[in-house]
Amino acid sequence: MCGIVGYIGTQNSTPLLIEGLMRLEYRGYDSAGVAVMTAGKGSGQGSGKGSGRGSGQGSDKVSEPAEITTVRRVGRVRDLAAAVPKRLNGTAGIGHTRWATHGPATEPNAHPHASADGRISVVHNGIIDNATVLRARLEQDGVPLASDTDTEVIAHLIGRSSADTLEAAVLEALTKIEGTYAIAVLDTAHPDRIVVARNGSPLILGVGAKEMFIASDVSALVRHTTSVIHLHDGELASVTATGYRTFTRDSDDTGRVPVEIDVEAGDLELAGYAHYMAKEIHEQPDAAAAVMRGRIDERFGTARLDGLNLGPRELRAFRRVKILGCGSAYYVGQMGAAMIEELARIPADAEPASEFRYRNPIIEPDTLYVVVSQSGETADTAFAVAEVKRKGGTVLGVVNVVGSTIAREVDGGIYLHAGPEVAVASTKALTTMAIAFALLALLLGRVRDLSVADGQRIIAGLRRIPEQIREILAGEAALADVAKSLAEAQSCFFIGRVRGYPVAREGAQKLKEVSYIHAEAYQTSELKHGPLALISPEMPTIALIPDDELTDRNLAAAEQVLARRGPLVVITNPGVDVAGLGAQGGVEHVVPTVVVPKNEPELDPILLTIPLQVIAYHAALNRGLDIDKPRNLAKSVTVE
Ligand code: AGP
Repeated sequence: MCGIVGYIGTQNSTPLLIEGLMRLEYRGYDSAGVAVMTAGKGSGQGSGKGSGRGSGQGSDKVSEPAEITTVRRVGRVRDLAAAVPKRLNGTAGIGHTRWATHGPATEPNAHPHASADGRISVVHNGIIDNATVLRARLEQDGVPLASDTDTEVIAHLIGRSSADTLEAAVLEALTKIEGTYAIAVLDTAHPDRIVVARNGSPLILGVGAKEMFIASDVSALVRHTTSVIHLHDGELASVTATGYRTFTRDSDDTGRVPVEIDVEAGDLELAGYAHYMAKEIHEQPDAAAAVMRGRIDERFGTARLDGLNLGPRELRAFRRVKILGCGSAYYVGQMGAAMIEELARIPADAEPASEFRYRNPIIEPDTLYVVVSQSGETADTAFAVAEVKRKGGTVLGVVNVVGSTIAREVDGGIYLHAGPEVAVASTKALTTMAIAFALLALLLGRVRDLSVADGQRIIAGLRRIPEQIREILAGEAALADVAKSLAEAQSCFFIGRVRGYPVAREGAQKLKEVSYIHAEAYQTSELKHGPLALISPEMPTIALIPDDELTDRNLAAAEQVLARRGPLVVITNPGVDVAGLGAQGGVEHVVPTVVVPKNEPELDPILLTIPLQVIAYHAALNRGLDIDKPRNLAKSVTVE
């Protein structure tokens, strides 16, 4: 999704903007641009197109007129960097990576966008809902429109304001637009500042020494400062090299102070791995340990989750649990719902957050709503939170990014402590989400009828997970071989039963995301009700056959695949007899088999997911694809 960076201080902003944009590349984009304020510092008394005409900060020093130089390119940030003139030097600037929404990925549609006189330059994340009406009005007024975008109207509205200050001009423009936005605005008439505003799209200020950074994501500024302010919806800020003022749309000061974030620059490096996806897969043993740290009560066989802000009595009062998330987070939500039903014996289910608010959901006071999101910025999930809250429900968050929008909006929750996740394909965040749900299920179980002994059994299982993930990852070479056998496939099936079904869905999701192999997940029991028609030597099936009460049924389904000469890969546990597969039909088959260490049945899905991540990664590697930035996908989907 789109990314914003901004800088104002004493250094040349150009390389800082380019570096910031490179840090945002992982979010997905199709074009990029920068606008740099040159000269005019302290004066703003010049004239002509793109030149300052106001008094800026009020200095009476006369210097060259301010100008904004804009460079935009379709494609990668490195293409933009190559196009930026070496001499482009200015101490204030804004930059953007664009994910096309209004109009195709072209240079005129790339941000920053300028007002007709070139005085104003704007970058914008989000969607302006009434852009069509505003564009028509501007055209009627004779304003030439240079792009197909919604963002351009913001630049014109600010540029046409007769307000004395940039802050007032931005406020005036915001009264005319409807929709979601994070914006950063440069004005040659006020070259000493950048004005920013947020409504429904994340925006962060970074406080440095005589310099300020602006970004839509901390990864763009963490190399320079860890002292940040997460702006709230409806908030604006006027940012200069030496400070900032935060205020509401009614111009009331909000007096926001910076907080320290717990992200180190090194967390965002590749650390010797070829791809972030590989790095993050291998970080999972540590991430699994981190999400459990300090949250296990061995003696009473339960979990300590103080962040929920709910006591045992309140937790007991819930009669149902509804989990909401998008994409892979939704699939992990399904795993979580199964754990909650099994351990706490209360009805639980998961639903795509993207659909939730559109069906006018009934929000019940005795249902516990739990949203799950790595980024904490997924727009669909944030809207689901708002829907639950509007109707008076209690909503918890299972979130990775501390201080993110969703983390702030929920009534309580569990932070994942997985560390920054850069690859578009989520891995370590999902594993920690599943463990967080296991902890929640344990707690909900223990305030109900789960025995201490059963609680301690689950805890023992949880404690084994980090080491067992290490064991799975030690077998990466064999998993790479399995991936090789899939790399030529056009299409494949993932099948799993009950606890294994969300694992199958996530396996299919991961494979299609990074390798572009079409993959579908089915409940194993559904195979014979339709999908079996597609089984052929060209259609591999990855079957999840854990050692549990359904093993025999799963083996029988695998036989049906083999009987139709469908290539089969089995993901199983030690002791499951897969050697005899295919023998019934008298067909000789070598079935590639991945043996995953056994845990408690309720926790097995967490481990079964890991080899599927590794297989997806190697399938993409075999195909020579851009693994960390799959086509058409963004790391966090901050627009609807
Ligand atoms: C995961 O591999 C996907 N990139 C995607 O489905 C993701 O899980 C989903 O968009 C939700 O993101 P979130 O966890 O940041 O809310």
